[in-house]
Parts: sequence; structure tokens; C-alpha cells
Amino acid sequence: MEITLVSTYQKLSEVAADYVQETMKSRAHCVLGLATGETPVGLYAQLVRRYRRREISFKNTTTFNLDEYVGLRPADESSYHYYMHRHLFRHVDMDVNKIHIPLGAAADLEGECRRYEYAIEDSGGIDLQILGIGRNGHIGFNEPGSTCTGRTRVVQLEASTLEANAQYFPSVQDMPHEAISMGIGTVLEQSRHILLLASGAAKAAAVEKMLSADETTGKLPASCLQLHPNVTCVLDYDAAANLSDSVVRENRVLEGGV
Ligand code: PGA
Repeated sequence: MEITLVSTYQKLSEVAADYVQETMKSRAHCVLGLATGETPVGLYAQLVRRYRRREISFKNTTTFNLDEYVGLRPADESSYHYYMHRHLFRHVDMDVNKIHIPLGAAADLEGECRRYEYAIEDSGGIDLQILGIGRNGHIGFNEPGSTCTGRTRVVQLEASTLEANAQYFPSVQDMPHEAISMGIGTVLEQSRHILLLASGAAKAAAVEKMLSADETTGKLPASCLQLHPNVTCVLDYDAAANLSDSVVRENRVLEGGV
């Protein structure tokens, strides 16, 4: 893997936006895989800024989001549909027909998961997939115990995930305990380049395990990324604090934070 170390969250967001911008510019039509949560908020703010400066356009961009809570409608303020519109889509020139987010309120959830898999395949795969990492090592909502070959499906959320995301809901009782998540196998097979972002000390243990795990199993879901030939991790110093010398030796580590 390639690891870019940066000094601050601001720098992480800028470096991530550089990767996205480069990908968008290198293709007439670009497919982005997008993540939600706290980590990519700065990236989306950067992209909006660059769009306003006319440095990028989203007209020819298709997007696929990683996940959505089961039972939430797109207009629900806690949904990832709402999040994406609030942080990115409503500020830029995205064609709404090219936005794909699993429909957590679908009557037929299994059918929705199958439809989502086909839609990704139909688009020709994902040029650049953005990922965050959970404190428990999850990617998307693929919790520990998922397999590295899993497809888009309905998943149960772990207590630690519910706790981490409770802040986005009026109360924990209101929080869905299930989500639709793109599978790890889907991400590995469909993405040509994966960009994992991690910021803050709370992610240091998961980042260390992701990079040093001898076994790539879904016990630590992010370790499955070792199976992909083109992964870039952008880490701030706090998230990278536990990296051992051997991890630094075995991966291409660049300083991007100055
Ligand atoms: P966060 O979530 O960006 O809100 O920390 C990341 C994740 O759970 O994948």
C-alpha cells in the first residue's frame, strides 16, 4: 500500500481532494465511490470550493455511496442521502440521475442490494473509492466478522458503531440497527483505486491492525484492503501514531503534510 502522512486534518482533506480532482480530470467520465461520516466532510468542503473556483465539474461524474441505514428515507436528516446532499451534491453540478445511494427504505431490501450491485457493474466499476475506517476496523458498514468476499447486503451494526454514530440521531432509540452496505468483495473487485482516509488518535489502533495484520480476514475488515493492488492511505500523524517500523518498511510511505 502507499501511505501518505499528513500533519493536520485540513491537509488530509486537501490531499484527498487532489486525488479526487486528478481522477476526475483523467477521465471523460468518472465513477467515484463515496463515503460518509466525519472524516470526509473536509474533503467534500474542498471539492465544493474547487467547483466554485471552476477547477472541477461534476457533470460527467457518477457516484456510488457505500451505505445507508435501513428504514431511513432520503429526506430523513439522519440519512446518508441527506448527508451527501448537504455536504456535496446540492453545492455542485451533479446530474441527479448519476447519484447512487442504497435505498434503506426499500420495501424489498434484498432486491435493492442486488440492484445496487448490478448498477455498479453496469457503470463499468469505480475509478476511485473513498473509504473511512471505523474504530473497530470496519469499512463501509462491514463490521468485524464480515468476509473479504462479501457483496452488497443488509448488515447488523455493532454496539460500538451505534455508539459512534448516535450523535447523528435525536436519540439512540431512534437509530436503525441495520444498514445496507456495499460488501468488501464489491469494493475490492469493482474499485480501480482505493483511497482510505483516517484522522485522529481514536483510529490509530484500527489503522495499525489494518496495516500489520498477518491474516487478511474480515475479523478486522480493513485488513482485506491488503488484497487490493492499488490502495492509498492518507493518515494524519495521530492516526498513524502506532505504525511499526516494519509497516513503514513494507509500505511506500510519503510525507504529504508539510
Ligand atoms: P468517521 O467514520 O469518519 O465518522 O470516523 C468512519 C467509519 O466509521 O467508517
